[in-house]
Amino acid sequence: MVSGVLILFPINCIWIWQNDVIRQLHDVFYFYLQSMLNSSSFTGYTIVGFAMYYFTYDPWIGKLLYLEDFFVMDELRGSGIGSEIFKHLSQIAVKCRCSSMHFLVAEWNEPSIKFYKRRGASDLSTEEGWRLFKIDKEYLCKMATEE
Ligand SMILES: CC(C)(COP(=O)(O)OP(=O)(O)OC[C@H]1O[C@@H](n2cnc3c(N)ncnc32)[C@H](O)[C@@H]1OP(=O)(O)O)[C@@H](O)C(=O)NCCC(=O)NCCS
Repeated sequence: MVSGVLILFPINCIWIWQNDVIRQLHDVFYFYLQSMLNSSSFTGYTIVGFAMYYFTYDPWIGKLLYLEDFFVMDELRGSGIGSEIFKHLSQIAVKCRCSSMHFLVAEWNEPSIKFYKRRGASDLSTEEGWRLFKIDKEYLCKMATEE
């Protein structure tokens, strides 16, 4: 039996997103986890995994839980922790009246794709032809300052 801390981050509780420090997110996030673990309420525990999520809305389907990141420590994978986190996320989604949970998975990440599909996930890229786009800051600035 693994003893550890299951951390779920509702994004609106993470102050770092409200500042313009997204480039440093990885370091800041790590620091945040470390300081949590160093606090007396977590003495003797270690982090076993985390999920970062927030709520968003789609005009066709309503409120969604968006799973931004989901991770179980390497050496502990395959022991049911990911399933527990996923179950907990499902309970949050249902309780908060979301109509679905959305997330991105890289094509090469076959083990995770299988993990999600075994739990009922459908692939919106192959089934509905959705593609992910981004506009980098350079172009955002260009558009923002165009006459
Ligand atoms: C995806 C991930 C969160 C799952 O966590 P986990 O704790 O391994 O999940 P579980 O132990 O509950 O289940 C893993 C499944 O793979 C199988 N498995 C067996 N050995 C495994 C191993 N060494 N590693 C991973 N999965 C293993 C389990 O039997 C289980 O099968 P099931 O889907 O039929 O239940 C974890 O593998 C991970 O952190 N991956 C790297 C980060 C990542 O890719 N995250 C997803 C981004 S979209």
